[in-house]
Amino acid sequence: MHEQFLLFGATGDLAAGQVFPALANLLRDRLLPANFRVHAVAKHPFETQEAFRDWLLERVHARAGDAVDMDALRELLQRTDYTSIDLSKPEALGAALKLKTGTRLLSYLAVPPDLFVPIAQGLKAAGLLEDPARLLLEKPIGRDLASALEINAAIAACVPESRVFRLDHYLGKATVQNLLALRFGNTLLEAVWSRRWIERVDILVAETAGVDGREQYYSRYGALRDMVQNHMLQLLCLIAMEPPSALDADTVRDQKLMVLRALRPFNAQSAPDESVRGVYQAGVVGAQAVGGFSQIEGQSVETFVALRAHIDNWRWAGVPFNLVTGKRLATRSTQIVVTFKPVSHWLFEKPRRQQAAPNRLLVRLQPEENIELHLMSSLAGPEWGAMELQSLPLNLSMAPTRRRRIAYERLFLDALNGRHALFVRDDEVEAAWQWIDSIADAWRAADFAPQPYVAGSWGPRAAAPFLPPPMAHTAAASPRASA
Ligand code: BG6
Repeated sequence: MHEQFLLFGATGDLAAGQVFPALANLLRDRLLPANFRVHAVAKHPFETQEAFRDWLLERVHARAGDAVDMDALRELLQRTDYTSIDLSKPEALGAALKLKTGTRLLSYLAVPPDLFVPIAQGLKAAGLLEDPARLLLEKPIGRDLASALEINAAIAACVPESRVFRLDHYLGKATVQNLLALRFGNTLLEAVWSRRWIERVDILVAETAGVDGREQYYSRYGALRDMVQNHMLQLLCLIAMEPPSALDADTVRDQKLMVLRALRPFNAQSAPDESVRGVYQAGVVGAQAVGGFSQIEGQSVETFVALRAHIDNWRWAGVPFNLVTGKRLATRSTQIVVTFKPVSHWLFEKPRRQQAAPNRLLVRLQPEENIELHLMSSLAGPEWGAMELQSLPLNLSMAPTRRRRIAYERLFLDALNGRHALFVRDDEVEAAWQWIDSIADAWRAADFAPQPYVAGSWGPRAAAPFLPPPMAHTAAASPRASA
């Protein structure tokens, strides 16, 4: 296991919100090596090491509150040193870092993608990417296919793919891994996992949070590039991929790649029917008044996107995959809903065939994690003289006593141990961008602007058919935004 963790972007939101809390939890649970050390790097100058530690403690507490064990965080900070470096000047890296070449070092670039190449080149020049050093890259890898290709090529010139780890924190969520268990550990589901039995698949990532302080980054990316290109496509791949012959990283990644390559590209004719873009206006979220998204001048990005994706292969022909994500929506909810086709012949009076709820598999990732299979059963009541059916969930919840690990905990452990299975390969990133570019190009060609929606609603009205059925109902009645 590697024991040196070199963190770029140490004063950023991600560091305080996820990275330090995750490392503190791992340290508390004694899952890190005895000589584990963090070398934190950012541009900001702190007068002393103590000043950095105090500042970080306060920041983590403000961001993560009780979710972090503050004693473990203090212990972690005793193993942390801070160096101020101007990251756009990679030549300064070697002299400033004073780390030995050939150490078991994991360098994590939790910085915007335009800094990946200069930092990697600086690390290489300083000898800090020599075997066995590893490089961990935060998402997004670039902003489109062209920039992703450039980044991947420049990274490949610094360090071989076998020592590169591209992080997508959704792959570290326990329920996401459970998807693999569910699909490939059970005869029952795999037998009905195709167009023959499945009507539609809905993937929803609804956030109540707004862009909040990330306007600079977000105005260049929008929901399509920030969420769909990575998190949502990874979920789609795990639902749609063919069964791999083994669970090793490359066998699974080969199967995910096939799905990405089978996604039907968008064009200017299909985009208006198959997608909705939205941008939130002032409204009320969780009883709190919130402002609208303040776009950086000259940009026009969406904070909400709904897409109907089609996977052009034998298994999925004709099955829509509805992908919806947005900020400042009515509730925080991340879920995958697989809706099965109706039974072929309906025998019952109550409910009528049209009102009967179809079988559904509901995988909830947030805020709570659980999996439910909704099946029809009898609402036994002989006094009514008729058989009445109701939909009831079979519940596969995780034992409530087990603490839920932050996704980053799992991913850091895997990267420190050199396990690639939950990281994204270069060709996957490129195939995902290729599809995303087709959407961005189609929007541009069709002059397809984001429609306003009220914060606290379910997005623009036009998005209702793209939402999983219970939300679609609420959305149809939600308040309308003024343009
Ligand atoms: C990040 C995005 O990757 O994921 C954010 O950049 C988003 O905009 C976040 O809020 C959502 O993550 P989670 O785990 O809270 O669903």
